[in-house]
Amino acid sequence: MTGTLLISGGRIIDPGQKLDKTGSLLIAEGKISWLGDDTPPPADCDVLDARGLVVCPGFIDLHCHLRQPGFEEKETIASGSLAAARGGFTTICCMPNTRPPLDGQAGIDYVKSTAASEAVVRVLPIGCISKGRQGEGLAEMAEMAEAGAVAFSDDGSPVISSRLMLQTMEYSLAFGRPIIDHCEDTELAGGGQMNEGIIATRLGLAGVPAAAEENIVARDIGLAEFTGARLHIAHVSTRGSVEIIRRAREKGVRVTAEVTPHHLTLTEEEVIGYNTNAKVNPPLRTEKDIEALISGLREGVIDAIATDHAPHTENDKLCEFALAPFGISGFETALGSLMSLVHSGKLELNLLIARLTGGPAGVIGSKLGTLAIGAPADITILDPNREWVVDTAEFASKGRNTPLDGRELTGRVMATISGGRLVHQGKEMKVTAR
Ligand code: DOR
Repeated sequence: MTGTLLISGGRIIDPGQKLDKTGSLLIAEGKISWLGDDTPPPADCDVLDARGLVVCPGFIDLHCHLRQPGFEEKETIASGSLAAARGGFTTICCMPNTRPPLDGQAGIDYVKSTAASEAVVRVLPIGCISKGRQGEGLAEMAEMAEAGAVAFSDDGSPVISSRLMLQTMEYSLAFGRPIIDHCEDTELAGGGQMNEGIIATRLGLAGVPAAAEENIVARDIGLAEFTGARLHIAHVSTRGSVEIIRRAREKGVRVTAEVTPHHLTLTEEEVIGYNTNAKVNPPLRTEKDIEALISGLREGVIDAIATDHAPHTENDKLCEFALAPFGISGFETALGSLMSLVHSGKLELNLLIARLTGGPAGVIGSKLGTLAIGAPADITILDPNREWVVDTAEFASKGRNTPLDGRELTGRVMATISGGRLVHQGKEMKVTAR
């Protein structure tokens, strides 16, 4: 290895620069140093042949669970970051519902220092809104912002207290970091296990109505309008939520939103047979919701696709449906499942890439997510047409909890480069000396 890498002959797509052309890209000293047609500048370098493949900015995930500290049997920063690299993600924001929760400087420092020595991609921690994630007093937001928390959230749980939500929004204005809410009116959700509807009734499972989400989305938007704070809605799952966010944005409220690959591609029918690997919060919904989520994504009402990668052990999920924890392990299937929307003509590839790169970067005010000259060499190389079968036994993640095991997908991440380092290299990808 010379330290200089040429990615040659790929279809380079960078929506932020309105770039979509066949060409090559040179990486030197961890940065993108040259991009052009097929006559690269002379230099000693290694070459990665990307003919027939798409070369785009590394994906940015605003929402994942790395489980460390406290739940290392489910995932660690090391294993989660390897899984992210396999999925084409070069920057991942991790939620603070660890044990102990990340509610002060020590927690943020711990994640950052562990990631610096063990992670293969950039890990950006999110700090708690409330002390101990208890939903009562505010956590140490100022010191966490200072230590590098990119946003604040009690994800996994909503902020039930409107008063606390108002306080955290007012406080957040001092640091300009977004407040991310897991929108769930727990009284309306009432311990529900899946989407409310005929399937839940038939299965005898308690349902979670769309209103449980929409109530809190509406409340939070009201508070964001009042305070002027930056609000980000996590894992939007219903048609009604998309509509409420659309109206708020038309009014100029500072609200952004994300949707997961599973809410964009799977419905409540996955639960039939009491499949605990399809148990997720918010629950998988209906085709009508999926249509609205895709429209929201296309219009820019939804800024980003975020995985909500939520790994659990096999034992955690091997139980009665009502006892299983919520969550889907999402890094390694994200692109493959999302490509089904491209192949069916519902989403253009360039738009999909935009919502995985520049979109999420904008939410956290990051300059990443671009192939501009001088930018960190965070790059994903994918084959939109490669067919493969999901085999959770091959996952880098410790969490094999996905309803997609054994499913055939079309579209795969072939290589991932993070800060100029090749952190994932598919079997078919060869590096040769020039
Ligand atoms: O399904 C989910 N799993 N939704 C959440 O909000 C939390 C997450 C987890 O931490 O497992």
